[in-house]
Amino acid sequence: MIDTRRSFLRKGALLTLSSLPLAAGCAHLEQRIERLKTSSPRTAAVLWYSQTGHTRVMGRLMAQVLRAEGLTVTDADYREFDASTLPSFDLVIMGSPVYYFRVPENLRAWIAKLPSLEGIPAAAFVTFGGVGHNQHNTSYELLEWLADRGAVPMRIAAFGHMSSYAPTWSSGRSARILTFRDLPNEQTFEAGRDFARKTVASVRARERASIGTEVSVFQPLRRLDMPWWTKLLASNHRIDPNTCIRCGKCERACPVGAVSVERNRVDSARCIFCVGCVNNCPTGAMKMTYFGSEVYGYREFLKRNGITLRLPRELADG
Ligand SMILES: Cc1cc2nc3c(=O)[nH]c(=O)nc-3n(C[C@H](O)[C@H](O)[C@H](O)COP(=O)(O)O)c2cc1C
Repeated sequence: MIDTRRSFLRKGALLTLSSLPLAAGCAHLEQRIERLKTSSPRTAAVLWYSQTGHTRVMGRLMAQVLRAEGLTVTDADYREFDASTLPSFDLVIMGSPVYYFRVPENLRAWIAKLPSLEGIPAAAFVTFGGVGHNQHNTSYELLEWLADRGAVPMRIAAFGHMSSYAPTWSSGRSARILTFRDLPNEQTFEAGRDFARKTVASVRARERASIGTEVSVFQPLRRLDMPWWTKLLASNHRIDPNTCIRCGKCERACPVGAVSVERNRVDSARCIFCVGCVNNCPTGAMKMTYFGSEVYGYREFLKRNGITLRLPRELADG
């Protein structure tokens, strides 16, 4: 078993090294501002994918800013939003966490099936962990996918948070993550407000923007199906029936339907290793072993380290 893993890792390392030159090629989004549906947006959809709440908070904050700008705003997790209504909006802002150096597969699949967004101005943002790995290019990737559906790309941004990657702290490497224990802070929130304000101002002014990728050694890793490789290091992914309270949070968090509380089952072939189930289980009943260590979730991590995440004043009442 160990040998198989080693050979997989060796192959992964070789593939990574051989594809490094790909990082040097930078791409640019063609903006074609003249296709804008309107420069007087009245409605906006602010949508996000979020497992531990970072991206949700930034999305909700941006929605409040757009409301203050006079727009009627629908803000929601993309999984609770009726995609068929998206073409009726005058502006779309979409947010995602960075997972494995890119936009998570489930969000990518959802965007690919969207109806035409022809002429709708769109902005994309990501939240990322710690120093970040490929965050700029991930926000670009998210906007590129919206542009592929016909949207007019306006702006991208990346906001630093604490990493929600449970295997890191569970393997005894929490110090790296705790360096960023003060994030998000007021500066993060101000950057989020600024992003929303500037997006709507650019649409009103029909302002052209230059949106491109950055050189990053992490960019080629996107091609490696990192969740699949990482999953090789994990085992024993299951629900502990003795501590499970059947609240269904793990099932709702799973974006690919791999968890069934009813059948007490995790389908590891389907799992995309987002660890949303572990991170959202309130009792630690969602079990997983990573590199020999038992993985515990984000709530528990915050509790053990006495951390309460800040909220922007606009959302302080919930
Ligand atoms: C499965 C997983 C993979 C991650 N991969 C990356 C990564 O490649 N680069 C990065 O900067 N942060 C990474 N992170 C950290 C998250 O992007 C960051 O914590 C984000 O703010 C979480 O957003 P959410 O609370 O909205 O889910 C990862 C987190 C998880 C759970």
